[in-house]
Amino acid sequence: MERTFIIVKPDAVQRGLTGEIIKRFEQRGLRIIGMKFLRISQSLAEKHYAVHAGKPFFAGLVNYITSSPVVVIAFEGTNAVAAARKTIGATKPQESEAGTIRGDFALEIGRNLVHGSDSVENGLIEIGNFFTEAELNSWPRNTDPWIFE
Ligand code: RTP
Ligand code: MG
Repeated sequence: MERTFIIVKPDAVQRGLTGEIIKRFEQRGLRIIGMKFLRISQSLAEKHYAVHAGKPFFAGLVNYITSSPVVVIAFEGTNAVAAARKTIGATKPQESEAGTIRGDFALEIGRNLVHGSDSVENGLIEIGNFFTEAELNSWPRNTDPWIFE
């Protein structure tokens, strides 16, 4: 079963959108296998966004993601990475379709509410950066046969 990593970013937590955002992934059919509330450290933020190091927005991005607490979630499901990215919407909120999280709740790229892994490989790396094996539970959900064929 494919895995993906989600961050409900500081702006979403501050705006009281945590439940709304988790709901969107949950109702899509993704299964939560790990979740916690934490303040991301400078070093973990730099590791998570290492691919963007050196870009003009990097310092602002690290400052934003470490500025107040977040909720991090590991999900499992069929095509979990692509499904979550579709539910999140385009990176730039002005290009995000209505009906996506960013299209419904965001206006600016630097306050785009949620992170989702961009590949299966990166999803597994990111989950490993934020969770220990003991914090992940791949449980049999009673509704699985009604969501996974
Ligand atoms: P994320 O990694 O947060 O899920 O977002 P993404 O894949 O849709 O976008 P990505 O290209 O990975 O960029 C990571 C985050 O950096 C901020 N950003 N700012 N000012 C800018 O030009 C700019 N470009 C990217 C956004 O917060 C974006 O989500
Ligand atoms: Mg990204």
